[in-house]
Amino acid sequence: MAEGDRRRLSARDVAARKGGRKLTAIAAYDYPIARLIEQAGIEIILVGDSLGMTALGYDTPIPVTVEDILHHCRAIVRGAPETHVVADLPFLSYHLSDAQALENAGRMLQIGGATSVKLEGGSDQMTARARTLVAAGIPVMGHIGLTPQSGGTAGFSAQGGDADSARQILAEAQALAAAGVYAMVVEAVPAELASLITARVPVPTIGIGSGPDCDGQILVATDMLGIESKLFLTFAKRYANLGAEIEAAFRAYLSEVESGVFPGPELTTALPPEVLRALTDA
Ligand code: KIV
Repeated sequence: MAEGDRRRLSARDVAARKGGRKLTAIAAYDYPIARLIEQAGIEIILVGDSLGMTALGYDTPIPVTVEDILHHCRAIVRGAPETHVVADLPFLSYHLSDAQALENAGRMLQIGGATSVKLEGGSDQMTARARTLVAAGIPVMGHIGLTPQSGGTAGFSAQGGDADSARQILAEAQALAAAGVYAMVVEAVPAELASLITARVPVPTIGIGSGPDCDGQILVATDMLGIESKLFLTFAKRYANLGAEIEAAFRAYLSEVESGVFPGPELTTALPPEVLRALTDA
C-alpha cells in the first residue's frame, strides 16, 4: 500500500467488515515492528498482554500492568499512526469495578493513543463491564475461548471441545455482541464452533487457532516471525525464521570483533595527519 493511501480503521469500520473481506491483525509490542506491520498493510495491531511472555520474559500474562501496556502502546502508535490499535486490558485492571474499568480503558485511549480496548471473557460480569465501557464511548473488542488471563483456573489448552463448554462459549459470544463489542477474538476453539459463532454473532470474529471461517485472523508477531519467547502457540504459523537469523548476526559480530575485522576502515573516522602530528609531538 502506498504511503498516504491509508486511514486508520475506526471500530465502526472494523464492525462493517462482518462477512466481507477478511480482517488482518497482529499482536505486537514495539516501534520498528509496528512500522513494518503498517507498511505491509495489516489493518489491526493488538498490544496484547502476551507482551508479558514475548517481550518481558514472564511465564504468564498475569504480571503485566496497565503501565506496561501503555508504554508499549505509545511505541506502537508512534510506529503505526495509521493503524487501528487495540490495547489489551491486563489482568485485574477491569475486574474490580466499572469505575476501575472505565479509568484504565480511558487511559489506554487518552494516554496510550489506542483506538479501542480488549477485555477477556464472556461471563455476566464481563459483558456488563463491556456494556459500561461502550456506553461511555469506549470501543471494546471481546475475547472468548482460551482466555490466557484465566489460565490459572481455566487452563491454557483449547476450549469448547465438548457440548457444554461449546454451548457456553457460543452464549458468551452472543452476550458480548449484545453488550456492544465491535469485534471479538475467538482463541483456540474447534473450527466448527468458531464457524458457528461467526454465523451467529453480528460482529466480526477474529480467530487465532480457531480455523479458517472467522471474519479475520490474528497471530502473535514473535511467533509468526520465528523469534523464540516464553509464549508458544502450537497453532501459530511461522512465516519467517528471524530468531536463527538474528542469532547468526550476533555470532558474526562477535567473531568479527574478536578477529579485528570489525570495524573496518570504511566504518572508521581518521584524524587528519597534521592533527595527529600535533598531538603526538606534544
Ligand atoms: O495478548 C494477546 O496477544 C492476545 C492474542 C493472542 C489474541 O490476546
